Amino acid sequence: MTVMLAPLLHVDSSADREASVSRQLGRLFADEWRGGGGTVRYRDVSAEPVPPLREAYARLGRRVERKGVLSLDDIAALVEDADEQREWDLTLPLITEVREARAVLLGVPMYNFGVPATFKAWIDRISFPGAFVDPVTGRKLLADKDFVVVNARGGGYGPGAPREKFEFQESYLRAYLSDKGADRVTFVSQEFTRVGDVPALDGLEDLAAASRATARSRVLELARAIR
Ligand SMILES: Cc1cc2nc3c(=O)[nH]c(=O)nc-3n(C[C@H](O)[C@H](O)[C@H](O)COP(=O)(O)O)c2cc1C
Repeated sequence: MTVMLAPLLHVDSSADREASVSRQLGRLFADEWRGGGGTVRYRDVSAEPVPPLREAYARLGRRVERKGVLSLDDIAALVEDADEQREWDLTLPLITEVREARAVLLGVPMYNFGVPATFKAWIDRISFPGAFVDPVTGRKLLADKDFVVVNARGGGYGPGAPREKFEFQESYLRAYLSDKGADRVTFVSQEFTRVGDVPALDGLEDLAAASRATARSRVLELARAIR
């Protein structure tokens, strides 16, 4: 008998549809997950951008915060006008997707040392006050989920690298997810993805190949371990 698993939520954010490394790593993970009988819910925040927050989002958020942690239904009941309704309608489906997933796979390129704006727009929207806290018990709802973040960067940011201190992609997501109560979080980074394109990276072909091989085998290992 095949056991159907709760869905994996797979979010991609690379603007590159042809050669994206984070998309390739994510696909590897998702295919392995499907092969094990799991289902996948997919969201591409580059192809279908999440609209930036508007004033009504902040207004509704403040009203909710004053009351404490509320259920999603109770939040909806606090909506006061059409602008707030629009903001909540844009937000609720994204929050629900995360809450319903057993595991979350995030494909994240490094853009200007951090995460892409399209991905940050998704983060901002799902982070509505109390969205991932049980209003009755206070339990953090992300604590029960596995998060896998597949990062891709053009250069190298590992310990001792000249650009180590410029790394705000993985470190940002580590801080964010930990603050939200997610403690089963694994990062897989493929580095030096622009070797061959950027002359400053000439000579680093072996490092690039090793990083690619390690990232790919780690992704497969994780998909098997988590499913
Ligand atoms: C807008 C933009 C900004 C980038 N900024 C950086 C950067 O700050 N550091 C870096 O190492 N690579 C940077 N890159 C290179 C990407 O991180 C690299 O191409 C990576 O593979 C992108 O992920 P993807 O292959 O999934 O699209 C940048 C690329 C783009 C398009």
